[in-house]
Amino acid sequence: MKLRHVLPLIIGFVFVPAALMLTVGILILVYGSVARDYLFGILIVSLVGTTIIGSAATLAVLFREARVAKLQTDFVNKVSHELRTPLTSIRMFVETLQLGRLQDPQRQREALEIVAEETARLSGLINRLLDWARMESGRRVYELSRQPLGPVLDAALAAFEPQLLHHPVQLERDLPPRLPSVMADRSALVEAVLNLLNNAFKYTGPDKRIRLSAVASGPTVTIAVTDNGPGIPLRDQKHVFDKFYRASDPLRRTVEGTGLGLAMVKHIVVGHGGKVSVESEPGCGATFRIALPVAGGAHG
Ligand SMILES: Nc1ncnc2c1ncn2[C@@H]1O[C@H](COP(=O)(O)OP(=O)(O)OP(=O)(O)O)[C@@H](O)[C@H]1O
Ligand SMILES: [Mg+2]
Repeated sequence: MKLRHVLPLIIGFVFVPAALMLTVGILILVYGSVARDYLFGILIVSLVGTTIIGSAATLAVLFREARVAKLQTDFVNKVSHELRTPLTSIRMFVETLQLGRLQDPQRQREALEIVAEETARLSGLINRLLDWARMESGRRVYELSRQPLGPVLDAALAAFEPQLLHHPVQLERDLPPRLPSVMADRSALVEAVLNLLNNAFKYTGPDKRIRLSAVASGPTVTIAVTDNGPGIPLRDQKHVFDKFYRASDPLRRTVEGTGLGLAMVKHIVVGHGGKVSVESEPGCGATFRIALPVAGGAHG
């Protein structure tokens, strides 16, 4: 358990009683016998106050722990399911091929293509889990060097391109010709932007419109990915960057995912001294932003 998790308990059970006792002590010192007359009342109020604040703090901690535990269980179920599905289909096709049930070379090729696709999906999922484990344990270190932002964003767009083969996308690249440089771990920043582009792709309907933009303003440069999907309800917006969190609406639950993408984006961006945010009006798409400090003034 991290310090910030037990902080409410420490405040509720240590700081508040200590502060109340100090106040009582000061009152007795300053007002002498007058305060002593009220000592019993003051003690009762202190006791009740401490009990209420301590209990509220305990409940808050228990509530959060229960929420994380539930998200973790959902996550394990989801991951097990996502590992099992491609494995089942790989096993089925391999067995069919082994038994020589597919004689037609064209159908054999199709079966092998499916096996290759499912294998790629499986290794993608495993890499994601390993990446996240490295981040959680603090083993993912960002090696920052001066990077002109334009080429970083173009690399993210290039990595996103294979998605366009699966489904047409109206992709808008709205980047000014001279973007500043940032201190960044290039591959990590590419990965963060790619995660946002992939989400925009995943969570939009058949008519997909995605826009990647960036704007520099003073010491900050802001990257934005906007889509024309269903958007995110206000109650989900404050949680989407939490690990394992997936929005509650059942339609989005049908889309594959582990709920780690945005938590990874946040980890990367915070590791670069930046901030992530989301703006969305349900029904009108979503805009995810990454704000980063500009490196040492000059444009790259
Ligand atoms: N562009 C978007 N439009 C609507 N909802 C979104 C969008 N991006 C994220 N969300 C919501 O936020 C949740 C968390 O997103 P995140 O990228 O962390 O996980 P995921 O996409 O479910 O899984 P993963 O990225 O790990 O495969 C998603 O499950 C989805 O409900
Ligand atoms: Mg995602």
